Amino acid sequence: MHGHHSPVPGDGPASGLLDQVEEAEAALRAAAERGRPGAPDGHAVDADPQEYFTALIEADQKIEPRDWMPDAYRRTLIRQIAQHAHSEIIGMQPEGNWITRAPSLKRKAILLAKVQDEAGHGLYLYAAAETLGVSRDELVELLLAGRQKYSSIFNYPTLTWADVGAIGWLVDGAAIVNQVPLCRCSYGPYARAMIRICKEESFHQRQGFEILYTLAHGTPAQRQMAQDAVDRWWYPSLAMFGPPDRDSVHSAQSMAWKIKRFSNDELRQRFVDMCVPQAEVLGLRIPDPNLRWNPERQSYDFTPPDYAELMRVISGDGPCNRQRMARRRRAHTEGAWVREAAAAYAAKRAGRGPAATRPAARDGRAAA
Ligand SMILES: [Fe+2]
Ligand SMILES: [Fe+2]
Repeated sequence: MHGHHSPVPGDGPASGLLDQVEEAEAALRAAAERGRPGAPDGHAVDADPQEYFTALIEADQKIEPRDWMPDAYRRTLIRQIAQHAHSEIIGMQPEGNWITRAPSLKRKAILLAKVQDEAGHGLYLYAAAETLGVSRDELVELLLAGRQKYSSIFNYPTLTWADVGAIGWLVDGAAIVNQVPLCRCSYGPYARAMIRICKEESFHQRQGFEILYTLAHGTPAQRQMAQDAVDRWWYPSLAMFGPPDRDSVHSAQSMAWKIKRFSNDELRQRFVDMCVPQAEVLGLRIPDPNLRWNPERQSYDFTPPDYAELMRVISGDGPCNRQRMARRRRAHTEGAWVREAAAAYAAKRAGRGPAATRPAARDGRAAA
């Protein structure tokens, strides 16, 4: 077995990644203790704002909401964080599809918790985006109008229970590989949200791995179901890392700003190298006849995903794009009363709302 990852189920397939998250958290704390360059209170009184921004990034300090930042940096972050938040929310659908049909009470409780985690990730990320001066309502409107994207992976259907396993293992796995470097992102609120999210994602990957492991060691029909799910989710998962580096438009600037730390192709390779030994433990085949260890590169050679398909799915023509958006719009409309009730409650607590100006009604109800 190659590589230094430990694929033993009890150890957790993503434990190496979890170590990296903890290192990022320690680095965040160390940077805060070190203090910012310039004035002792961290404010550069006379510095040119652009120069101070660059100095903060070079010193591996975080950019915070109160700091000056270039407009393009702000716009890039809003687009990226919003797209990420939308993906968490839309990503609840393919797995939510199996909550009522989970094969046992235990499986159902785990899946419910996992899908709720994804809602929480959406919440952290919308909150991080709001620190950049955009409201959550605006971002939701842009999603519903089709003007902001979510990850193309969630436009594929979940046909069997094994798909829940394959999503946890491969989709959450690819998400962590992508997101662990974001724990060191230069924008403080995003980095802190990612640390929290990655800790939970590593459990998601672990539960998916465990579902597949159980099926792969079950009856021949269960084993076949697990293999079929891996066959269908492998290439869409590879496509999650985005277009190849030669076609990637935003990368160079994002790297310079320390938003992104590795290229799409580097992360894709890292994911393949992580999955191969884990597939061996599962006893499942990765559906790629060209997959082999390359001793010179110390990595696996593999067949890249179909990028033309990725572009088709991103542009709205995947198997479930229309269904996912229709469902989200319906949920948004049907959830209007919850937002209204929450707003009314907040207003009442603040003592300014209509409820607070009508004490008679409240007393009347209490007396009834
Ligand atoms: Fe998530
Ligand atoms: Fe997840």
